[in-house]
Amino acid sequence: MEIIRIPHIVHDTSNGHLLHGRSIGFVPTMGALHEGHLSLIKRSKDENDITIVSIFVNPLQFGQSEDFNKYPGDIEGDAEKLRKEEVDILFAPDKSLLYPEGFLTRVEVGKLSEKLCGAFRTGHFKGVTTIVAKLFNIVKPTRAYFGQKDFQQAVIIKKMVKDLDMPIDIVVCPTIREHDGLAMSSRNLYLNEEERKAAAVIYRCLVQTSEMIKSGIISKEKTRRFMKEKLLAEPLVREIQYASIYDPETLEEVEAADKEALLAVAVKVGGTRLIDNMLVKA
Ligand code: PAF
Repeated sequence: MEIIRIPHIVHDTSNGHLLHGRSIGFVPTMGALHEGHLSLIKRSKDENDITIVSIFVNPLQFGQSEDFNKYPGDIEGDAEKLRKEEVDILFAPDKSLLYPEGFLTRVEVGKLSEKLCGAFRTGHFKGVTTIVAKLFNIVKPTRAYFGQKDFQQAVIIKKMVKDLDMPIDIVVCPTIREHDGLAMSSRNLYLNEEERKAAAVIYRCLVQTSEMIKSGIISKEKTRRFMKEKLLAEPLVREIQYASIYDPETLEEVEAADKEALLAVAVKVGGTRLIDNMLVKA
């Protein structure tokens, strides 16, 4: 595996592969790699000639009170995992190369970025789309891979690619879960033992709510009440930021889950913010 830190070298290397007719699969990450990331990498390896993974903790997508400075990082451990997966290139740029002094541009996907997580993390998705647009321009992938756990992020990136005519297929892969259903996330590392156990309530809540919807109880009011009750039954759930049914394309809350709906949750377990979701059809 080649480790490249300089954006224009990745750019030239990608151009070389594309000129030779090779497809490029790209998995952008912020490191602290877990099975969820590895599943994206495996899919990229299956579907492309070359797989490039980036590791960059993007300061632009963290709010002032958020965890940028303590975001878990282990570049050596991550590189080892990537070698085992036989990734072709690890792109691990330095911040000053991606955001040199005087960097002013932002990429923003209007309304979609204000819904759900966007309402609680001002500017977060603007930071995500800015870095992802930059990475796409540097890596020039044929396909890029994202996890369904970050459903809103995937919807926003698909919209960005469409609106900006970027010739990239966005592939959304299933959420990978722990034995008790907790969605894998680098942020799970912040949970202490008790909180880690308590966090399984999120998946239980999604499964039970989707069963309720499938049994025909589909109204927004009943769904919200049911989800709230389930989540608050766990004393370590400190705050529910949202828990309801949404349109999977517009991310607007819907009155009833009468067609395919997105069940989505954001809660704080102890001090850690966790999100999860599930698609459900009545
Ligand atoms: O999902 C993530 O890890 C990040 O939001 C991403 C896509 C790598 C952009 O920094």
